[in-house]
Amino acid sequence: MKNFTKFENKSTSEKLIQKALQYKEAPWIDKAKGEGKRIGCIFLNPSLRTRASTQIAAQQLGMDAIVMNMDKEGWALEMKEGVVMNKGSIEHIKDAAAVLGTYFDILAVRAFPSLTNKQEDIDDFVFNQFIKYSGKPVISLESAIRHPLQSLADMITIQENWTKENKPKVVLSWAPHIKAIPHAVANSFAEWALGCGHDLTITHPEGYELDEAFTQGALIEYDQKKALEDADFVYVKNWSAFNDYGKIITTDNSWMLKEKHLKKAKNAKIMHCLPVRRNLELSDELLDSPRSLVQEQAKNRIYAAQAVISHILG
Ligand code: CP
Repeated sequence: MKNFTKFENKSTSEKLIQKALQYKEAPWIDKAKGEGKRIGCIFLNPSLRTRASTQIAAQQLGMDAIVMNMDKEGWALEMKEGVVMNKGSIEHIKDAAAVLGTYFDILAVRAFPSLTNKQEDIDDFVFNQFIKYSGKPVISLESAIRHPLQSLADMITIQENWTKENKPKVVLSWAPHIKAIPHAVANSFAEWALGCGHDLTITHPEGYELDEAFTQGALIEYDQKKALEDADFVYVKNWSAFNDYGKIITTDNSWMLKEKHLKKAKNAKIMHCLPVRRNLELSDELLDSPRSLVQEQAKNRIYAAQAVISHILG
């Protein structure tokens, strides 16, 4: 695995999950592995969990991690090829990524979508420019269309909380929001849950269909009540429309999950990647209840990142 950008296959994901669980038991067992190596964590957008967990993961492998908040501290980057740079951008990605490639052994990049240029977002244009010009392995810290480190942490969390033989019923449930939110977490969660062989149902109001490239094999159920029946894990997440790209079609707050929605899912655990807008996306009563796995998911971000960096180090 040179770059870590998406779900590769079941066997690799199983290895990463096992490695992550090993690191959770003994975080410092490989503290000599990254000695003398550097990871550059490049953020074009804000972060709390991804920023901290990736640094901790690198530290536990003996690596130096340098974080650059390019949106605030770096030169404004030009991403397009062949343009006359006579407007706001100061430095071309071709030059910046090449420099970063000489400074670091591994790059990790966060680059959100525009939510206006659909094709450019689908092509993961900005993120791929870092891969194209850095010449070093690149880890996705969330791109326009995927958030694989989050999904790996989610799969670890599901595995830890599922001891039965049969497949768990996993439901991805759309939640209301006041802003247009990217599809990356929902896309990736569907990709990884299906790839890991979970029984996945996706529920959302009509018009919020995700890109079918990520949902093939999932059951799409517009009736949230029906979707939640017998659920073992409910992953709550907002996303904006994909077909009517980046638009908010409804903010219907009856979709916000509360305890009363789970009458037919007595043992369901609740998941969310965080940050969460309390009592808009998900109720206090569920977030603060024993059903909630959100803190476990956030903790597992460390071990997911550690397993991925370790795998790339070889
Ligand atoms: N879940 C997640 O990626 O959190 P941050 O945006 O805070 O990194």
